[in-house]
Amino acid sequence: MTEYLVNKHSEGLIPHKDELALARKITRESNYNHKLVTLSAPGSVDAENFKLLRAKILFPKNGSRPRTMMITSAFPGEGKTFITANLAVSIALGINEHVLLVDCDFRRPSLHNILGYSNKEGLHEYLTGKKQLADLIIRTKVEKLSFLTAGSSPSNPSELLSSAMMKDFISKTAGDSQDRFVIIDAPPAQITSETSVLSNYVDGIIFVIMAGMAPRQTIQKTLETFGNKKVLGIVLNGYTKSYKSYHKYYGNYYSSKQETLT
Ligand SMILES: Nc1ncnc2c1ncn2[C@@H]1O[C@H](COP(=O)(O)OP(=O)(O)OP(=O)(O)O)[C@@H](O)[C@H]1O
Ligand SMILES: [Mg+2]
Repeated sequence: MTEYLVNKHSEGLIPHKDELALARKITRESNYNHKLVTLSAPGSVDAENFKLLRAKILFPKNGSRPRTMMITSAFPGEGKTFITANLAVSIALGINEHVLLVDCDFRRPSLHNILGYSNKEGLHEYLTGKKQLADLIIRTKVEKLSFLTAGSSPSNPSELLSSAMMKDFISKTAGDSQDRFVIIDAPPAQITSETSVLSNYVDGIIFVIMAGMAPRQTIQKTLETFGNKKVLGIVLNGYTKSYKSYHKYYGNYYSSKQETLT
């Protein structure tokens, strides 16, 4: 298993001239949040860390290139969406790689916020047969990055994400090309049941740990449920928040989940 590190603190590195120009152009045309550091701070340490992560994924030491992957964590708020969005942009900025970014976190969708889009309809509408995929997929200003928002909030998120239609959707959109990737922002594994089913539908999992947050034993237990082969790597997210605020957040998430389920 490989470990990667994403720091909070940026500054310093000089980006490739073409990439900087491209990032500036996209910045002029889009409405993304500054947390999309791969575009807002292309020379930063954070952006460079995402390039390293991209390289590890595109050129794995062992085995074949994973083309469908999900990003998850044990608990909410560990940085899944931040990592997912930046990783997807980083891969799509490469020369050949096409990425479909999918928000599968029906309970707390937020990829649309960091990318600067609204979330009226998306995956939910596709999985329930209300809309065609072609009418839902957003072509972002990053040329090879497409995006499917979560859509309206379903009453049965676990069933939808565990469905055969979801499985087909992932394999169909990944297709056969080695340069086509599906990257999924998944719900936290300890809070929802769908993450473990979803893990069977993807080639690999990137597991995010916010430094000093989830207890070591829980992390180990969660990783064991996925199995060592499925976990492509661990991102130790260096962002720090107080332990107290984390637990407050976790408590809120859990109660909103209960409301959704009943
Ligand atoms: N490395 C980082 N640098 C700066 N900000 C970060 C970093 N990691 C996370 N954050 C910020 O912390 C907050 C929580 O992160 P994020 O929304 O990505 O977590 P999450 O795991 O997707 O949460 P949820 O379980 O609710 O979906 C966001 O405001 C995000 O922008
Ligand atoms: Mg999230």
